[in-house]
Amino acid sequence: MRKKIVAGNWKMNTLPAEGVELAKSVAAGRGEVCECVNFIVCPPFTHLSQVVEALKGSTIAVGAQNCAAEAKGAYTGEVAASMIAALGCEYVILGHSERRQYYGETSETLNKKMVQAYANGLKPIYCVGESLEERKAGKHFDVCKAQIEEVVFNLSEEQFKDLVIAYEPVWAIGTGETATAEQAQEIHAYIREVLASKFGAAAAECPILYGGSCKPSNAAEIFAKEDVDGGLIGGAALKAEDFLAIGKGF
Ligand code: PGA
Repeated sequence: MRKKIVAGNWKMNTLPAEGVELAKSVAAGRGEVCECVNFIVCPPFTHLSQVVEALKGSTIAVGAQNCAAEAKGAYTGEVAASMIAALGCEYVILGHSERRQYYGETSETLNKKMVQAYANGLKPIYCVGESLEERKAGKHFDVCKAQIEEVVFNLSEEQFKDLVIAYEPVWAIGTGETATAEQAQEIHAYIREVLASKFGAAAAECPILYGGSCKPSNAAEIFAKEDVDGGLIGGAALKAEDFLAIGKGF
């Protein structure tokens, strides 16, 4: 049985007090959703610690949205995986398309970030996905395959067991446009096939989340697909009610 996951990527939203409030509201309503759903929230670095504190005693895990490629030292403005882990975080999002697009993250950088994440006991939520031009050119399979081969294939079998993948078509992120459930299933199944070519049967256990304008009104249809194991939620994760409603999509 694969883990079912609903992860909230808050991006650069919420001030500390708002983030704590949001986390508490999610925790307060969590009981309405099946225990089988694993909730994760990923606030900005500035209030990771306060959100971890606010969620103590709940079953909601906390993740960061990024980590540094180096362990420590003279890297002004960077946040090391060890620092994130020390706060009590369990996850870290790596390779989000906004990081690849706006901050020039490449497979080379992401390999280093993966090393740091695992060295500090953080479970990566590794994002892959194609742009609109790539989708139109029919290159979406190749793009996702390369993003996986270049980074995930460098993991050991042991490390792979802690990996979560998020398929997020760039054209669906924050645009209101969602991939259809069929489009999601098609590529999730393909991603699992690519993973199986390297990790064999363990690929059947890897959670693959869908991300991109996922909301209460479309979550159930997407999550019903065999190879979709949950969602990485941006906009709709900023409202506890919507975030929880997405969890009810299972
Ligand atoms: P969205 O973002 O739900 O606002 O489209 C998803 C993401 O980028 O993780």
